[in-house]
Amino acid sequence: MSIISIRDVWKEYQGQVVLERINLEIEPGSFNLIVGASGCGKSTLLRMLLGQEQPSRGEILLDGKVLPPEPGPDRGVVFQRYSVFPHLTVRENVALGLEFIQSPIVGKLFGGARRRAIEKAEQYIELVGLDGSEDKYPSALSGGMQQRLAIAQALITKPKVLLLDEPFGALDPGIRGDMHDLIIRIWEESKTTIFMVSHDLSEAFYLGTRLVTLDRRRNRPEEQGLYGASITHDIAITRRRENRHRGIELAEGDVL
Ligand SMILES: Nc1ncnc2c1ncn2[C@@H]1O[C@H](COP(=O)(O)OP(=O)(O)O)[C@@H](O)[C@H]1O
Ligand SMILES: [Mg+2]
Repeated sequence: MSIISIRDVWKEYQGQVVLERINLEIEPGSFNLIVGASGCGKSTLLRMLLGQEQPSRGEILLDGKVLPPEPGPDRGVVFQRYSVFPHLTVRENVALGLEFIQSPIVGKLFGGARRRAIEKAEQYIELVGLDGSEDKYPSALSGGMQQRLAIAQALITKPKVLLLDEPFGALDPGIRGDMHDLIIRIWEESKTTIFMVSHDLSEAFYLGTRLVTLDRRRNRPEEQGLYGASITHDIAITRRRENRHRGIELAEGDVL
């Protein structure tokens, strides 16, 4: 069964159609890359999966059930910037995800529950390679470290789906490579389903098991507003995984 089913989803804002007729069945454990021009509706689609926005038409199912109309612990999210809280330390930022699930009213845990949340947070901090920075505030971290923190914060609730909106887009190319290694390792270890937005095709081919492109098929001025972007390509990406670990570029024949 698909972990996510997007069924004939449309989204419009004030009469302006942004997305139309989006149909996607997402396999559990897959690494999906959504690529498209700026403004074509990639973030809108991701925010609908998060539950922050509702489709104007159609429906989205998560594990066979209609997605609740708000974000929840089964969906972790990392944005390009500002996913973490500036007034909390690294440790507090990561523990926060758990505090919200276990204590949604006050968002604070006490005693043993708090200690366990902190221990768990420290495991995730180590997973993303931020050990040693537990007591730092985000402003003391580089851009790459802030994104590592955001990933740890998103993963601590063990989400069914990890939603990433151009998470590495603001990073220097060298750092981006390190982040690619990290996200591949996390994906392989956690078996989580990833839905990632990118505007970089080579990144998409490198990371994804599936590449979906969004584009507006009709773009004449009189058509603007009436028609939105839809899926224009849906490509399975196969590769010999051991090659990827050695950092070998994809051969042409590896892409179906
Ligand atoms: N909350 C909103 N209200 C009105 N228009 C919006 C809103 N969010 C996005 N849009 C519009 O929807 C289109 C797609 O935006 P977005 O999903 O952010 O594109 P992308 O992430 O592909 O760059 C843009 O034209 C944008 O202006
Ligand atoms: Mg966007």
